Amino acid sequence: MLNERSIIEVIQARSSCRTYQHTPIAPSVRQQLAQFLEAHAVGPMGTRVRLSLVAASEEDRQALEGLSTYGFIKGATGFILGAIPQGDFNLEDFGYVIERAVLYASSLGLGTCWLGGTFAKSRFAAKLGLRKGELLPAVIVTGYCAATRHVVESIIHRPAGARQRLPWERLFLDGAFDAPLSREAAGPYATVLEMVRIGPSASNKQPWRIVKDGNAWHLFMRRTPGYAKRNRTLFNVDDMQRLDMGIAMCHFALTSEALGLCGTWVVREPAIERPDALTGYIVSWIAE
Ligand SMILES: Cc1cc2nc3c(=O)[nH]c(=O)nc-3n(C[C@H](O)[C@H](O)[C@H](O)COP(=O)(O)O)c2cc1C
Repeated sequence: MLNERSIIEVIQARSSCRTYQHTPIAPSVRQQLAQFLEAHAVGPMGTRVRLSLVAASEEDRQALEGLSTYGFIKGATGFILGAIPQGDFNLEDFGYVIERAVLYASSLGLGTCWLGGTFAKSRFAAKLGLRKGELLPAVIVTGYCAATRHVVESIIHRPAGARQRLPWERLFLDGAFDAPLSREAAGPYATVLEMVRIGPSASNKQPWRIVKDGNAWHLFMRRTPGYAKRNRTLFNVDDMQRLDMGIAMCHFALTSEALGLCGTWVVREPAIERPDALTGYIVSWIAE
């Protein structure tokens, strides 16, 4: 799917970039990315994302620099925008499709950062020509990442390899929520799970929980208490953490594919006792 770099390398190398060089994206790179977006617009659950790659104007850059969600973005030269209709799994599909584009952009040498927020609704809605009934849940800023990072970023951003992530045992479970999954028991899927673990998530909350049950891998979302309400109030985005679940599905499926592990997504809730009311079932990967 990606060019010559393996998806695993790309996932390992990606981290959010918040400070960009002013150099515009090279026309050939822009063209490759635009073609990729055109060819990869549908999510695994069937939602088509209306995608667009747009160049940032000087005005956009200033607007972003003044923006303080929780990271400051400096000098981005492009945006990947996407709109989705209402419908089941639309946010998961959006997360999946946009993350696949993020990984492709990374493989082309571009820096990226997910941005969820009100600005996504207003400023970018106009750029994309958002239609009635469509949602624009988040945007990607992109461009060439600056070598020296902005001070703010050095606080928010940890270099790849020193990522702040929940330990494996908290995220991956063996048949039940009170039984941590060992790497040995995960077998060839250990790498797949690790690629999920190091993925991006809104505010780095990592809501993904995966329970292995025979040849099934059940994906659950553990909501961060109060987060959905806060996001609705602050950002007018209903469920940012469902985007994170789509991102997890993307890393899961692309890594499986790269390792030659076949499977399909199905929605069939298993009879596994949930640890709390915050945890809900999303989807399962049934390995062949
Ligand atoms: C759905 C979503 C929304 C995000 N929104 C923002 C944002 O508004 N501002 C920001 O600086 N980073 C944002 N991020 C980036 C996360 O903070 C980042 O992915 C996480 O801290 C992990 O760091 P890493 O991407 O460098 O691995 C968002 C990420 C996701 C997945």
